[in-house]
Amino acid sequence: MSERVYLMCISCGREFERDTLIYTCSSCGDLLDVVVEPKSLFRRDTLQGRVDSMWRYKELLPSFDKGLVTLGEGYTRLVECKKLAKWIGVRSLYLKLDGLNPTGSFKDRGMSVGTSTALRLRMKRVICASTGNTSASLSAYSARAGLECIVIIPREKVAVGKLFQARLFNSKVFQMVGGFDDAMTVVLKCAQALDAYILNSINPWRLEGQKTTAYEIWEQLGRTDIAVAVPVGNCGNISAIWKGFKELGIHGVIKDLPIMIGAQAEGAAPLVEYWEKGLETIRPWKNPETIATAIRIGNPVNWKKAVRALRESKGLITAVSDDDVVKALRAMSSLEGLAGEPSSAVAIAASKKLVDEGRIDPDTTLVSVVTGNPLKDTSDYLISWNEPVKITDANEIIGYFSRQK
Ligand code: F0G
Repeated sequence: MSERVYLMCISCGREFERDTLIYTCSSCGDLLDVVVEPKSLFRRDTLQGRVDSMWRYKELLPSFDKGLVTLGEGYTRLVECKKLAKWIGVRSLYLKLDGLNPTGSFKDRGMSVGTSTALRLRMKRVICASTGNTSASLSAYSARAGLECIVIIPREKVAVGKLFQARLFNSKVFQMVGGFDDAMTVVLKCAQALDAYILNSINPWRLEGQKTTAYEIWEQLGRTDIAVAVPVGNCGNISAIWKGFKELGIHGVIKDLPIMIGAQAEGAAPLVEYWEKGLETIRPWKNPETIATAIRIGNPVNWKKAVRALRESKGLITAVSDDDVVKALRAMSSLEGLAGEPSSAVAIAASKKLVDEGRIDPDTTLVSVVTGNPLKDTSDYLISWNEPVKITDANEIIGYFSRQK
C-alpha cells in the first residue's frame, strides 16, 4: 500500500495534497508530478502470484480503496523479434505490445488511474481532446465508472476505429475544425464551465498509470541496460515511462537506467526541432501533418517533462518521414507477423535511422513500445504495397501462380 501520495510542481517544487482538483501548479503554472511514497522499499519477490494487470505493482501506484476503475489494463506481452532486430541493425529487439490493452492502446493504463481519480474527486463528468486513442480509452473507462464523457476530436484524420470506439462507448463526441492542439485549447476553455474533469496527459494522474510500462519491461526482460523507443506526440508517454524506470532505481531494484529514444514524424516534430536547434522554449507548429495521425500534434503540453526524460537518460530523439513509417510498418508485419498503428511504426523507423547514423550502438538491446493496435487505423495507403487481386474463378488463381514461376 502507498503511504503518502501527493502532487509536486516540476519547476518550483510546491506540493499539493492528493485530492486537490488541479492540473498545473497554482504558484508558477508549470506541470505537476504525482509522488507515491510507499511504506517500505519495493521488492521483486512480492510480485509472485499477483494479478496479471498493471495493478500487480500496487505499492508503487496510488491506492483507491473501493473506487478502482479497471478493465485489466497492462501486463502486455513483450515479444522478441530477431528478424526485425536485424532490419533495424541492433543486437536484439523486443516489442512491448501495448496495443493488447483493453481498448487497444497504452492510454488504458492512464485512464484506469485517471477515472479512478475522477471518482475520488466526486466528479460526474470527464472531458478530453484527442487524436483518437485517448478518446477511445476514456470513453470505455467512463462507461465502466458511470461517468459522463465528452470527447473533442479533429473533424478529419482521426482513424475510423478510434472514432468508432468513442461512439460505441457512448461518449458525446464533438468533431472540431482544426487539429488536436485546437481541440486541446477548447477543452481547457470549457472544462470548468462544464464541471468536467480533464483527462488529457496534462493531468498527472494519467501519467502515473502509464509509468507501469517501465515496470513491466523490467520484470519481463530482467534487465534495464537497454534503450527504449517511444513515439512522441503530446510528450506524455515517454515522460511517464522514464518516471517508472527512475522509481525502480530509487527503490534499488535496478542499477542501470535505460536510454530513452523519442520518435516523431517529420511533419509534426516540434520537440525534435527544440532539441536539435537548442531553442529556449518549444516553438509550436501550426499545421502538423503526418500519416501517423495519433501524433499529429504541434504544441505538446508535456514537452518539459519529455526534455527532462531525454536529458536525464542521455537519450536521443529524431524524426522520420511518412515513407519511412510505411517501410517500418511493412518490415514489422512481414518479418514478424506483428504490427501496430502508424505512430508505433514511427519508433521502429526512428530506431533504424539512429542506427544507420551511428547514434545507436549496434550492440544495443532495444525495446520499442507498440503503443496502438494495428486494427485502429486500416487506411489503404498503409498497405498499398499489397493490392488484392480481383478474380471470378479458380483458374485465375492458378494462372496467377503459374505466371509467378
Ligand atoms: N502512440 C499512440 C498510438 C498514441 O495514440 C499517442 C498519443 C502517442 C503514441 C503519443 O503519446 O502523446 O503521450 O506523446 N495519442 C494521444 C491521443 C495524443 O489523443 O490519443 P504522447
